[in-house]
Amino acid sequence: MTSVWQIDEFWWTGSPITERHIMRFDVVTLFPELFAPLLTSGITRRAYESGQVDVRLMNPRDYADGNYRRIDDRPFGGGPGMVMMAEPLGQCLDAIQSERGDSAPVVLFSPVGKRLDHADVMHWSESSGAILICGRYEGVDQRLIDARVTVQISLGDFVLSGGEIAAMALLDAVARLQPGVLSSAESHQQDSFNVALDGLLDCPHYTRPENWAGIAVPEVLLSGHHALIERWRREQRLTVTLQQRPDLIKSARQKGCLSLADEKFLTRLDDKRLTLGSERDA
Ligand SMILES: C[S@@+](CC[C@H](N)C(=O)[O-])C[C@H]1O[C@@H](n2cnc3c(N)ncnc32)[C@H](O)[C@@H]1O
Repeated sequence: MTSVWQIDEFWWTGSPITERHIMRFDVVTLFPELFAPLLTSGITRRAYESGQVDVRLMNPRDYADGNYRRIDDRPFGGGPGMVMMAEPLGQCLDAIQSERGDSAPVVLFSPVGKRLDHADVMHWSESSGAILICGRYEGVDQRLIDARVTVQISLGDFVLSGGEIAAMALLDAVARLQPGVLSSAESHQQDSFNVALDGLLDCPHYTRPENWAGIAVPEVLLSGHHALIERWRREQRLTVTLQQRPDLIKSARQKGCLSLADEKFLTRLDDKRLTLGSERDA
């Protein structure tokens, strides 16, 4: 018997098959309650509540046998920890797939997977969704992965105690890219990594007061001179990106996204760095 998980007045599972959704993510998780704050807070809640990004939560424990509805067991070959069993996960996937009636990708969050980046998020934000499996314990029985998982995604080179935070990261990044979710003032166009723009990092931002703790806002931002402000922001983006992610400068150059003025500025930055370096070594 499948349970329906309810957050306030919103029902996140068990919607009729006939409903038409632009994008649907079915999340397989032992901890559906972790998703409540994500789905009901902040600017992205609009996307979830309107069904623009339809998120449904399924607990594989509902497909486990016995009084204890056991979902995990000891690893063959010994060793520490427990492993998520293939059978309840498989049955949970069967139920989701037959309800969806499509061939949506089955994603497993895992340190083994490809590290999530902006290009992946863009891909998912234009997709019709996926089934997201959140692992727990030592992970999932490999046979389930081999038989049912189509893509593995990692959040980074570190180990989480479960895939839920990784799933939430993906859902949040996807939701904020949906049309109308961010107001124009909060447009994602100027955000870091936007390859449609140039893929560079964002510039620093400042707000009131003009002077905080004896530190003034860069004067140009108060000048009202739009062209100068734009140039300053561009140079800041180039500076931050060169310092933190020189690989992104290289890709922007390869894609022809750097103007002559950008290149001149970068040469000046490089000269400055070399001068500072030789002064330090002298
Ligand atoms: C404690 S971890 C298992 C770690 C696994 N034994 C290993 O060393 O690679 C439990 C679950 O958290 C999730 N997880 C952990 N780290 C992750 C990461 N970097 N990216 C995505 N999911 C992760 C996976 O779903 C994983 O099955």
